[in-house]
Amino acid sequence: MKSAVMDSPRSRKEELGQFLTSTPVADFMASLFWALPKKVRLLDAGAGAGALTAAFVSRCCAQREGVRVIEATLYELDVEILEALVETMHECEQLCAAAGIRFLFTIHSVDFIQETSARLSGGLFGSLTPSYDVAIANPPYRKISTDSPERSALRWVGVETSNLYAGFIALIHRLLLPGGQLVAITPRSFCNGPYFRAFREDFLTHLELRRLHVFESRQAAFRDDGVLQENIIFHAAKGGRQPAELLISSSSGEPDGSITETDFAFTDIVHPHDAEKFIHIPSTAGHSAAKETLAGLGSSLASLGVTVSTGRVVDFRLKGALRQEPERGTVPLLYPCHFNGGTVHWPIASGRKPNAILDNAETRPWLVPSGVYLLTKRFTSKEERRRLVACLFDPETVPAPWVGFENHLNYFHAGGRGLERDLAVGLFAFLNSTVVDQYFRRFSGHTQVNATDLRTLAYPDCGTLRAMGRGLQALDVAQAEIDQLVDQHLHGC
Ligand SMILES: C[S@@+](CC[C@H](N)C(=O)[O-])C[C@H]1O[C@@H](n2cnc3c(N)ncnc32)[C@H](O)[C@@H]1O
Repeated sequence: MKSAVMDSPRSRKEELGQFLTSTPVADFMASLFWALPKKVRLLDAGAGAGALTAAFVSRCCAQREGVRVIEATLYELDVEILEALVETMHECEQLCAAAGIRFLFTIHSVDFIQETSARLSGGLFGSLTPSYDVAIANPPYRKISTDSPERSALRWVGVETSNLYAGFIALIHRLLLPGGQLVAITPRSFCNGPYFRAFREDFLTHLELRRLHVFESRQAAFRDDGVLQENIIFHAAKGGRQPAELLISSSSGEPDGSITETDFAFTDIVHPHDAEKFIHIPSTAGHSAAKETLAGLGSSLASLGVTVSTGRVVDFRLKGALRQEPERGTVPLLYPCHFNGGTVHWPIASGRKPNAILDNAETRPWLVPSGVYLLTKRFTSKEERRRLVACLFDPETVPAPWVGFENHLNYFHAGGRGLERDLAVGLFAFLNSTVVDQYFRRFSGHTQVNATDLRTLAYPDCGTLRAMGRGLQALDVAQAEIDQLVDQHLHGC
């Protein structure tokens, strides 16, 4: 198979979201389909050089499961890869001919989003009805802004999403016949977070999940292209209800790596009362144990009288008010770089970020009154051991009447004011514990921690948190010590 895109410049590949599926991953995806009809109408949207259709065809030819005809419809926008795609389709024809299968293909060299949205909405090009038995996809990944042509087109069919891949999936399932099957590899980002809320609702309403597979290594699935994305593969069918149980599997992503499989109650994957419809993916024993632990906790953040918000100082909007060093008329400005082993180290001399912000009528709405606050990073680096990194802001070490928390932080507060100290330290221990990190990893495949994610967690009650807070002697303690303390208070051991 030709690999024209491998040579194309990186920026062009990024613009097209062009990251090709390796043969072992494509074969694995093709193996996930359940029973197929005699005549399969296959959709491959964003076909690239045709790796996914080729894997599907190989499966049908090898398994001899009664498929007699494959009619493949492929959409690919990039004219430079079309020659490679046509060549792959001819290889598929030959493979099918040898296996006694009739293979027909149609390539649409058009924009799948524009064309399909217009046709599904009965617009310019006439109407389109669901007509596929099977779809296989590795859709392009790219953010689409609110005023982009893709967003407008998707709105014609009632789809609201900020990433191209989710738009592809939403359109693909609209083109499936009832019972039609979809296997796709996508970023895991749609499983949590507020931006994909509408997409999750649409997805879970129209598709019955049958299998989720997660790659343990962040880079494994697209290592050739050096893409840093945690990806999942899912198998789903159009319509129906969600199953009672769902098979979750995981692998390292290495070609010969072993696959671990576990059945979970579907209610463990999407909690029935979760308005956000997070999709949890427990892939290790630690994830399951964490679920058990958090299931035993009865408090919500709101019931504790605590709120978590995103830092209000958006630095580029208040550029004129920022100061590298504290001076008369300024108050402390805190960034993640001020985190220092559980507490805040401020100011940082010769740091890259400003340490202070003017306190005046313009900036005051973005500041908070001094007090004890718990801070968490919104973005952790890959190297960081935990996704959740919390530190305590203590006015005794950073004295000032007001303080600014920059937008890359989340801060826990009580109605806009500081927290009671023991409660804040208890929350510090809880959020920095391994068990909460493991729980978090069940639903989040990326290094971003949204305030919504923190709001949806279950928390110990006030008394337990305060006791944990009193039990923690210092904040720069080893992970094992935090885990032991949290364990002791949650399990009494
Ligand atoms: C992630 S790649 C996957 C390619 C192939 N399916 C594979 O798995 O190797 C996505 C493909 O979608 C194509 N693409 C991007 N935007 C598109 C659009 N709006 N309509 C059709 N194809 C598009 C890209 O050129 C790219 O080849």
